[in-house]
Amino acid sequence: MDKIIIEGGVPLQGEVHISGAKNAALPILVSALLTDGWCTYQNVPRLRDIDSILQLLSMLGAQIEVDGYTVRINAAGLKNAEAPYDLVRKMRASILVLCPLVARLKTAKVSLPGGCAIGARPINLHLKGLARLGADITLEHGYVLASAERLVGDEIYFETPTVTGTENLMMAAALAQGKTILKNAAREPEVVALADVLNQMGACIKGAGTAVVSIEGVPALKPVSVRIIPDRIETGTFMVAAALTQGDLLVRDCEPEHVGGIIDKLKQVGAAIQVGAKSIHVKGRAPIESVDVKTFPYPGFPTDMQAQFMVLMSVARGLSVISETVFENRFIHVSELRRMGADITVSGHSAVIKGVPSLSGAPVMATDLRASASLVLAGLVASGTTEVNRIYHLDRGYEAMETKFQKLGARIRREKSN
Ligand code: EPU
Repeated sequence: MDKIIIEGGVPLQGEVHISGAKNAALPILVSALLTDGWCTYQNVPRLRDIDSILQLLSMLGAQIEVDGYTVRINAAGLKNAEAPYDLVRKMRASILVLCPLVARLKTAKVSLPGGCAIGARPINLHLKGLARLGADITLEHGYVLASAERLVGDEIYFETPTVTGTENLMMAAALAQGKTILKNAAREPEVVALADVLNQMGACIKGAGTAVVSIEGVPALKPVSVRIIPDRIETGTFMVAAALTQGDLLVRDCEPEHVGGIIDKLKQVGAAIQVGAKSIHVKGRAPIESVDVKTFPYPGFPTDMQAQFMVLMSVARGLSVISETVFENRFIHVSELRRMGADITVSGHSAVIKGVPSLSGAPVMATDLRASASLVLAGLVASGTTEVNRIYHLDRGYEAMETKFQKLGARIRREKSN
């Protein structure tokens, strides 16, 4: 497995291009299952998770063509309704095929994803919603078996907003008979992006981006040609990297509206920020001030940026408290950051961070995507050499991260591990 080696201490300078959003691309590529012609997707990031979803779609019977950042999918030959354990365990977002399979093939057999490093992550709300639309659901030998002759619209209330749950049920409801109303729906930009794509396919979805989404079912959807929105978490990660290294960075081809919570916190930290139409200029300033952060569903501060922000607070002036409210076990980076000299104490769902003057490079590793990104950021500002191992996770969600940092002046390289 590859590792990343970083010699820290270089302020990042220059311009960075933001890739397409992983968490928008995944459900949008899956939505090709809802129709039977060629769909074209542009600005699809080159990531391991994208390879995994394409492998699954192909296994289900879809034809796939990949040409750089353009992906074409034709699900006319959709025939296999089973998503096997081997693929679902690698990537939880595979659960997104559940509702489209039931909507198109009237049946689905999808492995239960199980827990992951950041929490138990149940899918009970996906299943409860699908049952509400009339599907028969049973759990057998680690698989969800779902079937319905024709889904029928109804009102679905989510106890907690769920991103992929909202996306899954929007896809089911798009082809259901009658009207579905999703209440306490997730409001993330990725949900809106999927709703936009489904509407271009002929669906009738209103209210995406608010807590109440209404969907009038239609008998069929048509193929579409669309572009994937920029990745707001990659945007935030580079913005934090600029503030952390006292750099001067123009983050290009992003959607500033989607990162309001991050911009607000970075301004409080003391960074100078100028927002353009599709770009954000971030200039880091010393000293980095401490601020408290609490993660929330969108438009709150994203849980996917919590680990990266904790690195920033590790070298800030004073004391900060970071509280995680979305996932129950998302502090796995803390023990590794401590090994790099950070002063962090975890108590329940909060971490108290006492800023230190500097971090010191060390061999580290993480078992989650965003935790791995936070360790790369820590390496960029630490003295000496940091070796981030097991970067399999990083490659799942960041496109060529080390190449992008190299272009900004960082001393960072990828090496094969023994
Ligand atoms: N939840 C339930 N039951 C459900 C579904 C969710 O209790 O049926 C709970 C979860 O356990 C969690 C909360 O609801 O406590 C929110 O989870 P959500 O379902 O929104 O998460 P997700 O859809 O599985 C997506 C992203 C994650 C991101 C979260 C939160 C994708 C493919 N994944 O996950 O992204 O952290 O929303 O914003 O969209 C990442 O990219 O690194 C990543 C983990």
